[in-house]
Amino acid sequence: FKVTWDVAAAEKAGYEHFMMKEICEEPKAIKDTIGPRIKNGRVVLDDIELTEEYVKNIGKIHIVACGTAYHAGVIAKYIIEKTARIPVEVDVASEFRYRDPIVTDKDMAIIISQSGETLDTLFALREAKKKGARVLSIVNVVESTIARESDDVLYTWAGPEIAIASTKAYNAQLCALYLLTLELAYKRGCMSEEQYKNIIEGLQTIPDAIEDILGNKGAIQRFASSHCNVKNIFFIGRGLDYALSMEGSLKLKEVSYIHSEAYAGGELKHGTIALIEDGTLVVCPVTQDDLMDKMISNIKEVKARGATVLAIARESNEQVHKVADEVFTIPDVDPFIAPVAAVTPLQLFAYYMAVVKGCDVDKPRNLTKSVTVE
Ligand code: G6P
Repeated sequence: FKVTWDVAAAEKAGYEHFMMKEICEEPKAIKDTIGPRIKNGRVVLDDIELTEEYVKNIGKIHIVACGTAYHAGVIAKYIIEKTARIPVEVDVASEFRYRDPIVTDKDMAIIISQSGETLDTLFALREAKKKGARVLSIVNVVESTIARESDDVLYTWAGPEIAIASTKAYNAQLCALYLLTLELAYKRGCMSEEQYKNIIEGLQTIPDAIEDILGNKGAIQRFASSHCNVKNIFFIGRGLDYALSMEGSLKLKEVSYIHSEAYAGGELKHGTIALIEDGTLVVCPVTQDDLMDKMISNIKEVKARGATVLAIARESNEQVHKVADEVFTIPDVDPFIAPVAAVTPLQLFAYYMAVVKGCDVDKPRNLTKSVTVE
C-alpha cells in the first residue's frame, strides 16, 4: 500500500499555506467563540464565575501575555478601562514575572495564551496567584497547563492553529475579551442597556465583515506585490488603532522579515518623523471616529515628508480616502469593536508581503509556535 497524497497538503485543504487557511477561518473562530456565549441578547459566561459582588470589588486588573496574545491584552486595557472603569495594567510576561509587581488579593489577573504553554506566561500566572490575585485565563488549547492552573478559563474556540504566526487566535482572543468586558461593565453598572445591546449586535456582524474583507483580498495582494522591496514600514495609530498597529507590525516582521515599528500617532513628532523620507511606507489604521481628525493630521504630516500612506478605514470614513495613497476598506463596524475586523487586512498584508518575497510563511526563521523555554 502506498500513500499517494501528501498529509500536510491535505490538512491545508487546498490552501497554499496554513496562515492563509487560518485567516480564512476567522469568521468561524469568531462565531464559535461568541455564539454559545450570547443567549437572548445577553452575555452568558457559564464557564467562569464572576459574581456581581466580586466584579464590583475588583481593585485592579493585570493582563499578562506574550507576543500576539499581549497585543490582544493591549486592546483589552483600552476597552475595559473605557467601559468598566477598572484600572488595567498590561505587561509582557517576561517583565511581569521579574519586576515584583504590586498585586493584591483584590486584583484580577487575565492571562492570555493561544497554546496555554508559554513558559514566561505560565510563571507570570503563578506569580499573580502567589500574590493573591484571582486568575482568569483566555486560552485556545483545552486542558493546557495555563488552563489547568487558572481559577477560571474562558476558552477561545479558534480550533488548531498550525502556522507559527498567530492570526485567528488573536481575533478569537479579542472576542473573548469583548465578552468579558461587557460582563464587567454591565455588572458594575457602567454600561447602558443600549450600549450593551449595540456591542453584542456589533460583534455578531463581525464574521460577515471579515468575509467581506476576504472577498477583496486581491487588492491587498496587488498592493503588496508593488511594495515588497521596502526596507522599513511604520505603523501609526491612535487609541485602539495604536494597539492594533502593534499587532500589524509584529505580523509583518514575523513572516516577511521587513523591519517595522508601531507608533502612537501623537508620538510621531517625538522621533519617528525623522525617519520619514521620500517613499517610506506608513500604514495607518484609522477606524476611530473620535480620533479621526488627529489621525488625518498625522497622515498629512508624513505625506508632507514624502511618505506613501496605506490606510485601513471603515467604509464611511471618506476623509481618509482623500488623504491616503491607498485605502483598504473594511465594512462599517462599530469603532469600539473595529479591531476584531481591522486586523484581518493587516494579517493579509503581512502574508502577501511574505509570499511575494518568497519567505517560508508558515515556518518563519528562528520562531516557534510555543516558547516553552526561557
Ligand atoms: C510565540 C508565537 C506567537 C505567540 C507567542 C505567545 O512567539 O510565535 O505567535 O503570539 O508565542 O504564544 P501563546 O501560545 O502564549 O499565545
